[in-house]
Amino acid sequence: MNTTLAFLDPATAATPLLAVFAVDISTGKDADPHPALLSTSDAIANAAAPWIASGEFKAGLAETLLLHAPAGVKAERLLIIGLGKAKTLSIHEVRKGAGTAVRFAKPRAIRDLAIAFPEDKALSDEHMDSLPCDLTARAIAEGVVLAEYDIDIYRSDRKDLSVHSFTCAAREDDKKSQAEMQHGFDAGLIIAASQNFARELINEPGNVLTPTELGNRTAAMAADSGLQCEVHGWDKINELKMGALAAVAQGSAEPPALIILRYEPANPKPDGPVLALVGKGITFDTGGISIKPADNMDKMKYDMGGAAAMIGAMRAIAHLKPNVRVISIVCSAENMPDGKAFKPGDVITAMSGKTIEIMNTDAEGRLVLADGLHYAKTLGATHLINAATLTGAIGVALGLLNAGLFSNCDDATQHFMDGLATSGEKFWRMPCTDDYRDQIKSQIADIMNTGGSRYGGAITAAMFLKEFVGDTPWIHLDIAGTAWMDESKAWQSKGPTGIAVRSLVEWVNSYAS
Ligand code: BES
Ligand code: ZN
Ligand code: ZN
Repeated sequence: MNTTLAFLDPATAATPLLAVFAVDISTGKDADPHPALLSTSDAIANAAAPWIASGEFKAGLAETLLLHAPAGVKAERLLIIGLGKAKTLSIHEVRKGAGTAVRFAKPRAIRDLAIAFPEDKALSDEHMDSLPCDLTARAIAEGVVLAEYDIDIYRSDRKDLSVHSFTCAAREDDKKSQAEMQHGFDAGLIIAASQNFARELINEPGNVLTPTELGNRTAAMAADSGLQCEVHGWDKINELKMGALAAVAQGSAEPPALIILRYEPANPKPDGPVLALVGKGITFDTGGISIKPADNMDKMKYDMGGAAAMIGAMRAIAHLKPNVRVISIVCSAENMPDGKAFKPGDVITAMSGKTIEIMNTDAEGRLVLADGLHYAKTLGATHLINAATLTGAIGVALGLLNAGLFSNCDDATQHFMDGLATSGEKFWRMPCTDDYRDQIKSQIADIMNTGGSRYGGAITAAMFLKEFVGDTPWIHLDIAGTAWMDESKAWQSKGPTGIAVRSLVEWVNSYAS
């Protein structure tokens, strides 16, 4: 897709489709909706006036109104897109609104479109707070690129409905604001393309995306993006004594992969932090000998969603170039039952030397992460963050809207939470205090891999990981409930969401000097 930020009057843009945002400026619960355009163009206001006045359009979030051949406007079609209440408007509604424009265009085979940059000065201050222009431009770029993504790549009857060109038309003549908008716009394109890269990996079926193939695709991305990359198989995993990763991988005909990415800024602070992004890369999770039921097992191809988030974030970091060192460790394997598979009752030794009694081979993600987190520390990580589709229990606890965050460090958590205002992703902090440790005590070994009780399963999993991070500041993101959506939205295809990529980029940026 060709993307341009153009400083021109949107009414003069020659395009098949011009999208303009509108908000509801009514206040009070029972007041009738009062739509108002976020545009200072008289031509656009005049063209839309009869429809706005009709009361049919209420400016609800992602509500659309299409006008053909709008008088006085150069575009062939004018699409008014609602962003909801003016008072609560944020860049996150703008991101969704921009996505709605693209999802509207695609099924109609409209290949080129423009979006009018939302002008808050179209309304008086009492109606809404102003939006920062750099982050607004970024949200538009993200919304457009993310909405381009579709899951149907293996359908023979697939129609290629991709958008060829997108213009963001802004009536801005202040040079400083123009530069800020351009900066935000360019960052948004990079971040969203990286999130889509993660989504493409997640959507691949298990027979295509084996651990080896995940390594190949990561290496190719790294070569394109200027990241250092190493991909190792059985030999290195055995040499490092990664007994937990090995136990999960040993029941599969597919060899595991240990993937290491390194981003080195041009002038790193000598004593600055080394951030480590660790990902669960189970390319298919049958449950192993503790096999899963058949219903929905196909979904377990997305059990590498944590790894994909880390790989996508590293891609974005390589292009955005923050001044901080970042490494990524992905532990990838296929969890299968066969004659060589690990079994309940087995005792294995992790890379850290801790012994683990296996109670359930379906709790495999925490095993591969145990070795990934420990290995990251041996590589010099000062801060650890991991993402994983770790437990069904996180969906039970938080529903499918918020992902879970667990941490041993308030400061690192604050860095992460502060970034959510920009990323627009939702994470909710869960408890991870030592009084939960009893759940993983074993009589036979140092710890066991599942708790004795079915309550608080997401916390039990987090407590297991905590055993391997020691005092190093650490965050665990459990994205099992949010990495795949069964329903589409007006601005987003169903399928892999690519959650965590945007928030990880913000977290890394927050440590840059
Ligand atoms: N990959 C699953 C978790 C999962 C569940 C991801 C649903 C996405 C959607 C994980 O490996 C797993 O099977 N966890 C078990 C843990 C249990 C055996 C303690 C679970 O959640 O049931
Ligand atoms: Zn499992
Ligand atoms: Zn799993």
